[in-house]
Amino acid sequence: MNHRNWVRAPKDTGAAAVCFRKKITFTKQVRKATLAVSAIGLYAAYLNGARVGKNVLAPGWTSYNARVQYQTYDVTGMLTNGALLEINVGQGWAVGYIGFGNTNHKFADHTSLIAELTLRYADGTSEVVSTDRTWDVYTTAVLSSEIYHGETVDQTAEPICLGKAVGDPAVKTKLIAQVGEDITEHERLAPVEIIRTPKGETVIDFGQNLTGYVEVRVKGRRGDRIVLHHAEILDKDGNFYTANMRAARNENIYVCSGGEDVFKPLFSFQGFRYVRLAECPPELVNADCFRAVAVHSEMERTGFFECGNAEINQLYHNVIWGQKSNYLDIPTDCPQRDERLGWTGDAQIFCRTAAINFNVSRFFRKWLGDVAIEQEANGAVRGIVPNALPRQGSTFVSAAWGDVACVAPWEMYLAYGSRADLEKNFPMMQKWVEYMHGAGPEEFLWLGGKHYGDWLAMDGNADSTWGATSNDLIASAFFAHSVSLFIRAGEALGRNMTEYRVLYQNVRNAFRAYFMENGMPKEELPLTEHVAEGATPSDRFRRGVTQTAIVLILNFNLCTEEERPALADRLEQLIRNAGGLMQTGFVGTPYLLRTLAQNGKSELAYQLLFETRNPSWLYSVEHGATTMWEHWNSIKEDGSFWSTSMNSFNHYAYGSVYDWIFNYVVGISPREDHPAYEAIDLAPHPDRRLGFVNSGVRTKRGTVRSAWYYKGNDVYYEIEIPEGATAYLKLPSGHCETLCGGSYRFAEKGE
Ligand code: BGC
Repeated sequence: MNHRNWVRAPKDTGAAAVCFRKKITFTKQVRKATLAVSAIGLYAAYLNGARVGKNVLAPGWTSYNARVQYQTYDVTGMLTNGALLEINVGQGWAVGYIGFGNTNHKFADHTSLIAELTLRYADGTSEVVSTDRTWDVYTTAVLSSEIYHGETVDQTAEPICLGKAVGDPAVKTKLIAQVGEDITEHERLAPVEIIRTPKGETVIDFGQNLTGYVEVRVKGRRGDRIVLHHAEILDKDGNFYTANMRAARNENIYVCSGGEDVFKPLFSFQGFRYVRLAECPPELVNADCFRAVAVHSEMERTGFFECGNAEINQLYHNVIWGQKSNYLDIPTDCPQRDERLGWTGDAQIFCRTAAINFNVSRFFRKWLGDVAIEQEANGAVRGIVPNALPRQGSTFVSAAWGDVACVAPWEMYLAYGSRADLEKNFPMMQKWVEYMHGAGPEEFLWLGGKHYGDWLAMDGNADSTWGATSNDLIASAFFAHSVSLFIRAGEALGRNMTEYRVLYQNVRNAFRAYFMENGMPKEELPLTEHVAEGATPSDRFRRGVTQTAIVLILNFNLCTEEERPALADRLEQLIRNAGGLMQTGFVGTPYLLRTLAQNGKSELAYQLLFETRNPSWLYSVEHGATTMWEHWNSIKEDGSFWSTSMNSFNHYAYGSVYDWIFNYVVGISPREDHPAYEAIDLAPHPDRRLGFVNSGVRTKRGTVRSAWYYKGNDVYYEIEIPEGATAYLKLPSGHCETLCGGSYRFAEKGE
């Protein structure tokens, strides 16, 4: 693609999409025709009125200031002599409203297009038709389009010529061939019910919270309006509830042509389960006219799981739909409110689970590329990538958020074994480690700074988003953790990591000296001067003895083997003191059950998994959740909502419990010395309350499957290992065996 070919519309059309048109003629026989397209904004291309490609929301979301992807389509079969090539361009992430604060133009103040149609002729010659000043620009039926606010499509609007395209030399970003997966349409869900709410509104229930849009197929009268509003939930009275969408209007307005119309937004999407027909001619209120279409990155489904407990199956379903809903080109926090951003912490927490459920290797190759691009010169990694807040100040450089720079490359390596990807991410890992090394007043601790802490933990003030665990402790523990991942990455790549092994020992020793005494974390931790300056609300809490603190110490090996039993007992005691409930937030939760189970508290881990009171995973399941919630109690016990300001019903972070279920309950873990499931630790842990489990993951060698079930007191195991893989089996009885490719059955007698 030649940079000089960027064009823009001759007039500013604000939120309205525009169409760039070119008639394609040729005099020789075309052997092959390929179309490459990109935009600042979003584009949709058509040849002779037919949509080119099955992807939507192209060119996707990258760090637009640095790079934008282009897509290439084989259009040989669609091209005729004199064909009309039309490319609609809308605002999308680059130009429309994005990032909280209700501001637009984050990356550019207008849309731009670049396209190249390459015609390869039968005689061996070729010709390229590029965007230039000969292209005509028209208005379109898309009168307005915003990611957050929705789209207005008027099929009665006649296209008006705005003039010829003008060159746009101001676009300086680098064009790159597509790295990530296509964004495509997936499930199409019919309404399960059309409800008349107590307020008298007509609301369609699709039965599943999802990300995408509603496709409307109608034959209305010319000028008939259909207005759709989107919501995730009904309130306790059964009324349509949109307060948690904050500033996002999520409103799609359609004006009928008078003929058969198929409406759906071209450059917007919504997170919803319910749709209010705010306007709709009564004769068009018909379930057959509406389909909810799920939209997400086209990741291959690799994981499967089923057990004998309906609630745990629903939890798994919610984890999967949480991922589908939030892996739309970048890993987002949520898909509905005026956010939908690449929060690094959320991505860090969930990436291990994500890589079991779906093949996310390309997805992370692209997004981690943007994390590396946005990493600051001193190694800092901020809260959101791509940074959607450039003109509003930025997010924190927070522990557990910035650590995505080390955690995600390592998890991708474990799951897919690509040395090339690990190699590419290695400098980013190193810079992040060095950032922490220089971050605080102490060389080997990360004290001070601004952090999100154990975000949304239940041990802070009531209804506070800030957990009680000391930020210094979390930051210093993650410092040690990321250094250790970095060392493992370096060793896998054959580097000499001596210097970092010394750093790791220093960090670990410093952590133990500063935060621990007699093998336990200290109760009260000093408030460093540095913290006092830039203190966030979370810094009011300086506790060292919390569930999360102990989880981090145990899970990140910051204790000695001798100290483990007492720490595990203390963790158990803290859970008992909290009425048998966990209190952990974003930082502690992903490791809680793993830590308990690995430290002799398997029964307690299972108890927490089956818990139904708030906070617990099954609390939301029992309250009808079809995706993961942001808060443990997004709906409170009395049926009221957590708050309007921050209450998503589609936040995948707590879905990270699935990687423990998979690694421990099902018992499948890839070994780091032979990643990508070439060597597998296989240690299932049956529990009667689950009845049976049948689960696995499809790898590049084939399916790894582990199943177990009870017959009377006996447990039967079924195991499948693909050819070329080796599994190191350990059954609860202690029976160990090395298994090569094949299918196996084992039985163990119960007492
Ligand atoms: C997001 C979170 C994110 C957090 C940072 C929220 O608004 O939705 O998931 O990690 O901010 O504290």
